[in-house]
Amino acid sequence: MKICVVGLGNIGFNLFTYLGERFPGKVMGVDVNESRIEELRSKGYRVTADYRELTGIDVWLMAPSTGSQGQNLFAALEKMIINPGSLISIESTLPPETMIRVREFLEKKGFELGNDLFLIHVPHRVMFGVDKTVCDTPRVMGAYTTACLEKGREFYTPLVPLLVEVTDIRVAELSKVVENVKRYVDVAFAQEIYGHCIDQGMDFDELRRAVNSKSNVELLSTDWGIGGECLPKDMGFIRTVCHSTMLEGTEQADRDYRARLVQQVGSAKEVLVKGLTFKTGVKDLNNSRGVDLVRALEVAGNTVWVQDPLFTSIELREAGFKAEDEVNEMSKKQDQVAAKIVMDRHKALDLK
Ligand SMILES: NC(=O)c1ccc[n+]([C@@H]2O[C@H](COP(=O)([O-])OP(=O)(O)OC[C@H]3O[C@@H](n4cnc5c(N)ncnc54)[C@H](O)[C@@H]3O)[C@@H](O)[C@H]2O)c1
Repeated sequence: MKICVVGLGNIGFNLFTYLGERFPGKVMGVDVNESRIEELRSKGYRVTADYRELTGIDVWLMAPSTGSQGQNLFAALEKMIINPGSLISIESTLPPETMIRVREFLEKKGFELGNDLFLIHVPHRVMFGVDKTVCDTPRVMGAYTTACLEKGREFYTPLVPLLVEVTDIRVAELSKVVENVKRYVDVAFAQEIYGHCIDQGMDFDELRRAVNSKSNVELLSTDWGIGGECLPKDMGFIRTVCHSTMLEGTEQADRDYRARLVQQVGSAKEVLVKGLTFKTGVKDLNNSRGVDLVRALEVAGNTVWVQDPLFTSIELREAGFKAEDEVNEMSKKQDQVAAKIVMDRHKALDLK
């Protein structure tokens, strides 16, 4: 069996190495980002940027970044040399109604699903920093034919803890988006309640402790806004098919919350922001609302110092932030600053 992972980013590369251990010598990877390919090649991985090198593939596992309309996925499908009898599993998160477009695309190429080609959608649900591997969580699988489901079951059952098969492929598609939108709504609700607590002079953390003492209730913490790539993107996906004033209001609640944080600090102050990254233990500033917060505070006329245990001061400075070199310099700064904003997801932070 020859396997190819398409898209070697956060998800795809983890999947690539996970499968590489289970199917030694059988797994290849492709990505359009040539510098990424060069970097991986220099480390000895069997990867390419040229789809023409990928012949005789039996299983395609697709995890490219989706693109707002699924365009990266179709760009990849266009270039893949698809063998009759192969299995194509789409693992990226999809805007609703993408799988029907994939089906039509493949049928136009002359394939008959369930007969000479097997297509499934098995969206990723990994939580980096929490899950040990990309295959630690139960997975949902949808397909258009029973034969496609059977082929998918054969491949995934040994790899994941639980395979939840659904009869309607749109359910598989929507399940991933709903999972993320649910979290978005939960955080936005917490932000609203936080705002109310501030207005009333109440302690939000104490309220959380009180509410969360019941086992079936969880009032989340608020951080500095709903960021990362997935939650805002998936909220955007669902809003294209589901016209909901509640969801519209939820997005507004997040914007209001972030504006409130900046207002709370005010202007012309020395501010210390501790913690910029947002995934536990993951050194990544892309789409971090912590970064947005620092920039918004600067625009409001503040001087903002930052610290993040996953980055050195040099790295932070290279990324365009003000950072202290010495720990004692930092503690001096902590005594002087007018506002401290602490993101407490990283246990390494000194919260005192
Ligand atoms: N990162 C997460 O925590 C997470 C969790 C669950 C689901 N997902 C979903 O998984 C998918 C991938 O996410 P990610 O975080 O790995 O993204 P990423 O941006 O880290 O990586 C995506 C990779 O796909 C490559 N790519 C784009 N178009 C391509 C093409 N035509 N052919 C080959 N490669 C191509 C990019 O160059 C990039 O290296 C997305 O749909 C995302 O929504 C991500």
